[in-house]
Amino acid sequence: MENAKYPELKGKTALVTGGSRGIGMSIVRGLIDQGCNVGINHRKNVGKSGAQAKELIEYAESKGQKAWSLIADIQSEKEIGRMFKKFTEECSPTLDYLILNAGSTIFKNFMEISGRELRSLAEINIFSNVHCVQSALPLFQPGASVVCISSTGTRKVLPGYPLGIMKSALEELVRYLDFELHEKNLRVNGICAGLTNTDTFQVLRDSMPEIAAAVTMGNRNVLLEPEEVADIVNFLCSQSSRAIQGNVLLADRGLTLN
Ligand SMILES: NC(=O)c1ccc[n+]([C@@H]2O[C@H](COP(=O)([O-])OP(=O)(O)OC[C@H]3O[C@@H](n4cnc5c(N)ncnc54)[C@H](OP(=O)(O)O)[C@@H]3O)[C@@H](O)[C@H]2O)c1
Repeated sequence: MENAKYPELKGKTALVTGGSRGIGMSIVRGLIDQGCNVGINHRKNVGKSGAQAKELIEYAESKGQKAWSLIADIQSEKEIGRMFKKFTEECSPTLDYLILNAGSTIFKNFMEISGRELRSLAEINIFSNVHCVQSALPLFQPGASVVCISSTGTRKVLPGYPLGIMKSALEELVRYLDFELHEKNLRVNGICAGLTNTDTFQVLRDSMPEIAAAVTMGNRNVLLEPEEVADIVNFLCSQSSRAIQGNVLLADRGLTLN
């Protein structure tokens, strides 16, 4: 385990939503590097998503560990239920780390958004995370951690980026869940990540030119690599972060300083 920084993660089981691409993919790889067996949730079993999930499974196997593909659209409560049933029956009866990373947005101002789009945003980015924690609750082991991935749309108004208010709700959910679940001996934390170099970032940059301009702030390169977020996830799962409870760590390379 050449990269294992946190030996207590070895042999533990994790599930990462949206784990086949971007930040989620790096989180899965990072947890495998710490010795975890990992469930990889994704929507599509084809194209880049399918191919990368397969690569991650092979990567885990090359280290004598396991990773499993768990196809489910987390917008659907039913599919979340089916995913956890499959996870329990075919992968592991217990869970140590739940990483709530999947999320998506449209790019529209609030005055242009339809009721259906608004509900869909809430379902994917907030309700799904509540449903995942509810489903995972019977599986959690003492000392388990939940980590939610938020974004800096919570710190700065980004016009045309309605995900910002969903992520604000998610950050508040972190506090409420940690408070509610503390007696189960588990911690809930979040990471508010700055601009991160993923497929979504490329779309974001094309839809919102001001984002492209924001990447360089003077001498400061504010573009995170997904591995930097994955490193913080490992830390939040580890005992080194045991004092951090119900908190959201800002990791934005200084993007929101001014
Ligand atoms: N990129 C950034 O600049 C940035 C910054 C801060 C925070 N974040 C947050 O980090 C998270 C990941 O972003 P990313 O940029 O890494 O995204 P990404 O590269 O587009 O990857 C998204 C991943 O989530 C999966 N996914 C999307 N919708 C899903 C759904 N409804 N059900 C299940 N899986 C779903 C995708 O699987 P399929 O391909 O199979 O659909 C894929 O594995 C998001 O919550 C995002 O808001 C991103």
